[in-house]
Amino acid sequence: MIIRPRRLRRTSAIRSMVRETSITANDLISPLFVKHGKAVKDPIKSMPGHYQFSVDTLLKEVESERELGIPAIILFGLPETKDETGSISWSDDGIVQRAISAVKDRFPDMVVMTDVCLCEYTSHGHCGVLKGSGVDNDATLELLARQSVSHARCGADFVAPSDMMDGRVAAIRNALDSEGFEQTGILSYAVKYASAFYGPFREAADSTPQFGDRCGYQMDPANRREAVKEAGLDLDEGADIIMVKPALPYLDIIREVRDISLVPVAAYNVSGEYAMIKAAEKNGWIDGTKAMMESLISIKRAGADLILTYFSSEAAALLRDLA
Ligand code: PBG
Repeated sequence: MIIRPRRLRRTSAIRSMVRETSITANDLISPLFVKHGKAVKDPIKSMPGHYQFSVDTLLKEVESERELGIPAIILFGLPETKDETGSISWSDDGIVQRAISAVKDRFPDMVVMTDVCLCEYTSHGHCGVLKGSGVDNDATLELLARQSVSHARCGADFVAPSDMMDGRVAAIRNALDSEGFEQTGILSYAVKYASAFYGPFREAADSTPQFGDRCGYQMDPANRREAVKEAGLDLDEGADIIMVKPALPYLDIIREVRDISLVPVAAYNVSGEYAMIKAAEKNGWIDGTKAMMESLISIKRAGADLILTYFSSEAAALLRDLA
């Protein structure tokens, strides 16, 4: 007798019945870039289909994402001015702060998350304040806490620290609680690798380090045990959701983190992962739509509960059409 697994692959209906993993719009979080101005919608060349929005055009984008059933966005800001400490990042009048207020005002049910980091706001492009040629961990914590409180004050539902400083989840939690924002959540970029796949993002967010690299704070791609350690620390410090980033080259890490976490695990399908599929599709080398869905389902199969992805609108529209 031959064991015949192919029986379960014979028809589309049978395949649907036995499918182990599914994806819905509810799993998706859309990253969006916001800058000053009016009626601005500047294309990001390396990320076809993505734009830097002003607050007014951002609202239109959020409206369409909401109609597609996408529950959440994460905002990245492009400030008008930068300085050594990124001080504009905790101004209640900053660009992200304005965007949060505008979105929550128009669409109170949209879950608004904000990237908390200094790299978009510092003149040197590093994720913290400098001491000598390095980043000063403990001096940075206070600034991240200020930025988080300012986002919370404008109505952010979750702040998402992406700097990889030690102790920042606890520092941010304490600051939020002492300012009365005990309901504001923390989605921590707990396991963030020093990755070449962030290339297009640095163009999109204008956040390239002006010297050196981020290897002194982001993780070494070779390390797996360290991911479990980082995830555990952020859980202990009170993170509500923990994230692994990037996603596709780190599916083993997503699984590892899923297995030790009792809170939801997110994965960030980053700019380079998006750009590669778009570029290959444009050259006629792959079916971009199929590669998109295969990527997203693989990230879920690995154990992610939530996916931050530049594909969210496209995937949600496809899921709606298939339903
Ligand atoms: C840092 C930040 C980065 C990304 C999200 N937050 C860039 C970096 O660490 O260099 C990358 C996201 C992507 O590539 O899509 N604030």
